[in-house]
Amino acid sequence: MGQVVVITGLADGMGREAAKLLAVAGDTIAGFDMDAAGIASLQTELDGLSPSSGKTHYLVPLNILDRPGILRFRDEVLAKYKRVDTVLSNVGIGFFGPFEEIDLEAARRCLEINVIGAAAIFQAFLPAMRRQGSGKLIAMSSLVGQVPFPFESIYSASKFAIEGMVMSLRYEVAPFGIRVALIEPAQVSTTFAAKIHTLPPEGSPYRERARRFIARDDELIKTAPTPLQAARRIAEIIHQDRPDFHNQVDFMSTFFLFLNRFLPVGLRDRILLNHMDIQ
Ligand SMILES: NC(=O)c1ccc[n+]([C@@H]2O[C@H](COP(=O)([O-])OP(=O)(O)OC[C@H]3O[C@@H](n4cnc5c(N)ncnc54)[C@H](O)[C@@H]3O)[C@@H](O)[C@H]2O)c1
Repeated sequence: MGQVVVITGLADGMGREAAKLLAVAGDTIAGFDMDAAGIASLQTELDGLSPSSGKTHYLVPLNILDRPGILRFRDEVLAKYKRVDTVLSNVGIGFFGPFEEIDLEAARRCLEINVIGAAAIFQAFLPAMRRQGSGKLIAMSSLVGQVPFPFESIYSASKFAIEGMVMSLRYEVAPFGIRVALIEPAQVSTTFAAKIHTLPPEGSPYRERARRFIARDDELIKTAPTPLQAARRIAEIIHQDRPDFHNQVDFMSTFFLFLNRFLPVGLRDRILLNHMDIQ
C-alpha cells in the first residue's frame, strides 16, 4: 500500500519532481505551494500519472507563513486520507549577500519561512502521527546546515537551525514510533540559486569576492544533479522504513561533510574557499 506523503513547496524544483516520482510509485500526494499556477499544473500532471488507481492527490495554493491555512490544510488531509505517513518539509528560500550589508527584515522573513515554516508543518501533523504510532518527518536541510558558505550567513543560519530543531525533536518523538531525518544537498540545478544571486552594489568592499563566488557557483551548477536526479534520492529516502538521520544527495555535499568530520577546521576552510574561488 502506498504512503500518504505531505510535501511543502512542491510547485517547482525538487519537491515537484519528488511528488511525480512518488505518485508513479503509488503514493498519494498532499501538498501546498504559494505558486498557484504551478500547483494547478502539477495537480493535472499527478492526476494523469495515476488515473487508474482512483487516487486523488490533494494540492492547494498556500503560503507557509499562513499558520491558520496550514491547520486547515492539515484538517483537510486527515479528513480525506485518515492518516499521514511522511511529511517532507521542503519549502526553503535562499538568502545571499555580505553579512555587513544584509537587510535584517528580509533576513527575518527568510528565517520565518525556512525554520518556523518547517516547525509549523511538523507540529501540525505530529498529533496524528503520534496517534497512529508511526510516521516520518523529513526536513530539507543543506550542506550549509553543517558547513556554512560565505555570503550565505542567513541561509546557513536557517539550515543550522533546522538541523538543531530536528535533532532535538527526534528524541521527543522516537518513543511514539516517529522517525526523523534530514536531507542535505549541496547544489541541485533548480532555479533556487538564480533567484537570489545578485551582486552587492558598486563600491561595496565585498563586490569582487561575491562576483567570483557567483561565477564559481554558476560553473558548478552545470554539473550538479538535476532536480529529477535529486528527487530519485528523496523518493528512496521516503520509501525507507528506517531512513538514516543524515542523508546526502550529491557528490559535493557528501565530499564536504566527509571532510568536515575528519579535517581540522583550518584545512577544511582552505579547501572550501579555494573550491569557491574566494581565497
Ligand atoms: N537547489 C539547491 O541547490 C539546494 C541545495 C540545498 C538545499 N536545498 C533546499 O531544498 C529545498 C527545495 O529547494 P529547490 O531548489 O527545489 O527550490 P525551488 O526554489 O526550486 O522550489 C521551492 C518551492 O517552494 C515554494 N515556496 C517558496 N516560498 C514559499 C512559501 N513562503 N510558501 C509556500 N511555498 C513557497 C516555491 O514557490 C517553489 O515552488 C529548499 O528547502 C532548499 O533550501 C536546495
